[in-house]
Amino acid sequence: MAKVAATSSCLLSCLLVLFLSSVSAVTDEDKKVYIVYMGSLPSRADYSPIAHHMSILQEVTGESSIQGRLVRSYQRSFNGFAARLTESERERVADMEGVVSVFPNKKLQLHTTTSWDFMGLKEGTRTKRNPTVESDTIIGVLDSGITPESQSFSDEGFGPPPEKWKGVCSGGKNFTCNNKLIGARDYTSEGARDTDGDGTHTSSTAAGNAVVDTSFFGIGNGTVRGGVPASRIAAYKVCNESGCYPDALLDAFGDAIADGVDLFSISIGGDETASMFEFDSIAIGAFHAMAKGILTVNSGGNSGPNPTSVSSVAPWILTVAASTTNRGFVTKVVLGNGKTLVGKSVNSFDMKGKNYPLVYGKPAASSTCDAAAAELCKEACLDKSRVNGKILVCGGRDGLKIAESVGASGIIFRNPRPDVAHVHPLLASGLLTEDFESLVTYLESTNSPQATILKTETIFNRTSPVIASFSSRGPNTIAVDILKPDITAPGVEILAAYSPDGAPSKNDARHVKYSVLSGTSMSCPHVAGVAAYVKTFNPKWSPSMIQSAIMTTAWPVNATGTGIASTEFAYGAGHVDPIAAVNPGLVYELDKADHIAFLCGMNYTSEDLKVICGETVTCSEEKEFLPRNLNYPSMSAKLSGSDSNFTVTFNRTLTNVGTPSSTYTSKVVAGHGSELSIKVTPSVLSFKTVNEKQSFEVTVTGNDVDSEVPSSANLIWSDGIHNVRSPIVVYSYTNDEY
Ligand SMILES: *[C@@H]1O[C@H](CO)[C@@H](O)[C@H](O)[C@H]1NC(C)=O
Ligand SMILES: *[C@@H]1O[C@H](CO)[C@@H](O)[C@H](O)[C@H]1NC(C)=O
Ligand SMILES: *[C@@H]1O[C@H](CO)[C@@H](O)[C@H](O)[C@H]1NC(C)=O
Ligand SMILES: *[C@@H]1O[C@H](CO)[C@@H](O)[C@H](O)[C@H]1NC(C)=O
Ligand SMILES: *[C@@H]1O[C@H](CO)[C@@H](O)[C@H](O)[C@H]1NC(C)=O
Ligand SMILES: *[C@@H]1O[C@H](CO)[C@@H](O)[C@H](O)[C@H]1NC(C)=O
Ligand SMILES: *[C@@H]1O[C@H](CO)[C@@H](O)[C@H](O)[C@H]1NC(C)=O
Ligand SMILES: *[C@@H]1O[C@H](CO)[C@@H](O)[C@H](O)[C@H]1NC(C)=O
Repeated sequence: MAKVAATSSCLLSCLLVLFLSSVSAVTDEDKKVYIVYMGSLPSRADYSPIAHHMSILQEVTGESSIQGRLVRSYQRSFNGFAARLTESERERVADMEGVVSVFPNKKLQLHTTTSWDFMGLKEGTRTKRNPTVESDTIIGVLDSGITPESQSFSDEGFGPPPEKWKGVCSGGKNFTCNNKLIGARDYTSEGARDTDGDGTHTSSTAAGNAVVDTSFFGIGNGTVRGGVPASRIAAYKVCNESGCYPDALLDAFGDAIADGVDLFSISIGGDETASMFEFDSIAIGAFHAMAKGILTVNSGGNSGPNPTSVSSVAPWILTVAASTTNRGFVTKVVLGNGKTLVGKSVNSFDMKGKNYPLVYGKPAASSTCDAAAAELCKEACLDKSRVNGKILVCGGRDGLKIAESVGASGIIFRNPRPDVAHVHPLLASGLLTEDFESLVTYLESTNSPQATILKTETIFNRTSPVIASFSSRGPNTIAVDILKPDITAPGVEILAAYSPDGAPSKNDARHVKYSVLSGTSMSCPHVAGVAAYVKTFNPKWSPSMIQSAIMTTAWPVNATGTGIASTEFAYGAGHVDPIAAVNPGLVYELDKADHIAFLCGMNYTSEDLKVICGETVTCSEEKEFLPRNLNYPSMSAKLSGSDSNFTVTFNRTLTNVGTPSSTYTSKVVAGHGSELSIKVTPSVLSFKTVNEKQSFEVTVTGNDVDSEVPSSANLIWSDGIHNVRSPIVVYSYTNDEY
């Protein structure tokens, strides 16, 4: 049946193609930019990537002049190019030898919608630092550029860049680097200056200098600083107001790897759905970075709390979720009857205690709108003369877009996501549904309702950390046995440096040097900062050792919410702990060969892997590698079949990076869902030397794993000083989308 349908629809589309090509020649509109990924660069001395790319293009297009076709040519750290191709050219190039994958240049998102103290990395005597090595660490930030004049990037006290640095300062006109901001490159043709704010914010969070007395108009006042203030920054501008595109991102990755960065912080990603690794520009770039010893830290996405919304899924990437800190921002609304409602926003505007009339629904509506649409403040629903000079009350967020244009003095709206306070271009406060209803009751109780909105106050919130509702959740749809996200870090209401060329919120006329943002875009550079901090004490550690150290020392977290969104699928190993991560005791190590074996287990062919890895790869046929046996710091398995009783095993190997002679004992602590029975063999591991490796096997048995909530536990290896913790997650979640 399915076959018949397929044939007839093909017939139809073939006819359509014939018809179309008979009436119009192939125009520019029919061509789209595609990335042609060709894996590693061949090591032959006579190989010229650009010549190869051009000959491929000539062959598939049948044109001797490929003018306007080649968009970018990747030749520094891996092989491939971006080109304008028609659909049939795309198909032809995908079949060519040496081509791993061809994928559209589909727009990616910036994951944006006093945190270091909260994480335990305090300034002052308690935190040991290693300024010499710290200053040798270079963090490459791929984002919307940077504000070179920001005090966060001043180079006072910095020596010349480390010798290994091979990058350039090519930020365009009126852009200078210094000994702190040691490099800049632009892939948007408008200069590396940040005209948005995000790139300046993420860079300063990862490695900005400590700057005292900073605030957003007095809100959140204090010292702003990055995780490793002595580290260097190299800014790669891949995003502009039209977005972030894979062609630019891959170009930047290739340059930055060759420039000599030590770490990547990338607060960019797909939207809601993850792609296979060979179609995912961040997974591709990060794979080649890993092969060169560079860790990529990437935001997990802001598409939560829906399951399977995490977009960063490769095991060679450290994927970050976002959570709250103990500092919260609230904006109170005082009603005419004296009642105070506590809302959320980052409000720097001041009504000076004066009451303003409130207007809601019908009384605010233009003649063409019904009351319901007016209550939601739908566009073109409000009558300017009725709203002007009043506080507009809206049942949803739509009103934020139009409140100013209809002359409102302020806006009070129902806030569907009460865990995040945002900056708005006018006086605003978002109320929880409950509080909003009590406001409506007040509105109905009087003929002249009034209120005043106060300036934002800072509160201490004991209920923290909590995973933000927006933070993308697992399970991983590509590698179903790799738990993602890996870790959580502060990503809610983060104050950091900003670009005065950008607006602190949409349609905002203000210009600021520091602003408050939320998103996994903000949590990602926190973890990049921690990774740099770990690297300063362990300069020789590989990306996987740093990743393992960060994951196995994380604090356990409680996520709020119900079902899958409030489990390890929200926060992975837990909340990042910079101090503990420096000294993990043991690490789960992975090298390129382990990742290749994993890819064999994911059913990539030896031919594809040879191109990707630039070396002969033979996937063993008799001994099938199970992806869940990848020596990853977390353990996860998706159950197959309908048998409610199951047994799954995980093989792991630990490397001693602590005391030479040490004995670790295993302990299992229960987690979520139905109970798991867990056996660890051997249950005690003894090490005699540093770098010694010991293997063990974990056997998990259980029954009746809920299809909504995974079953979990924690394996902790302890020598009495170090606690090396790994989450174990077994699940059977299925959804129609995959
Ligand atoms: C350079 O950029 C700064 C910061 O945006 C600006 O204040 C200055 O006027 C610019 N100078 C020139 C010559 O464009
Ligand atoms: C934004 O950057 C892209 C490259 O990713 C470039 O093609 C485009 O022209 C830029 N847009 C603007 C408005 O400058
Ligand atoms: C922030 O400002 C308030 C009010 O001036 C002051 O009480 C508080 O100590 C300041 N906080 C910091 C961290 O500077
Ligand atoms: C404290 O944080 C929790 C979790 O984000 C939130 O639900 C609660 O509303 C916050 N408390 C206040 C007073 O803002
Ligand atoms: C998590 O929540 C449970 C139940 O509310 C509580 O017993 C436990 O102490 C919490 N754990 C942490 C680390 O906050
Ligand atoms: C790989 O192929 C084997 C054999 O067809 C199958 O059992 C296995 O589930 C596949 N693995 C993945 C990760 O798709
Ligand atoms: C599943 O395990 C339970 C408890 O261990 C046992 O009672 C039951 O018979 C098992 N069911 C099957 C189908 O093996
Ligand atoms: C896992 O470890 C056990 C015990 O050391 C060993 O017998 C088995 O072959 C290992 N399995 C894999 C897939 O490596």
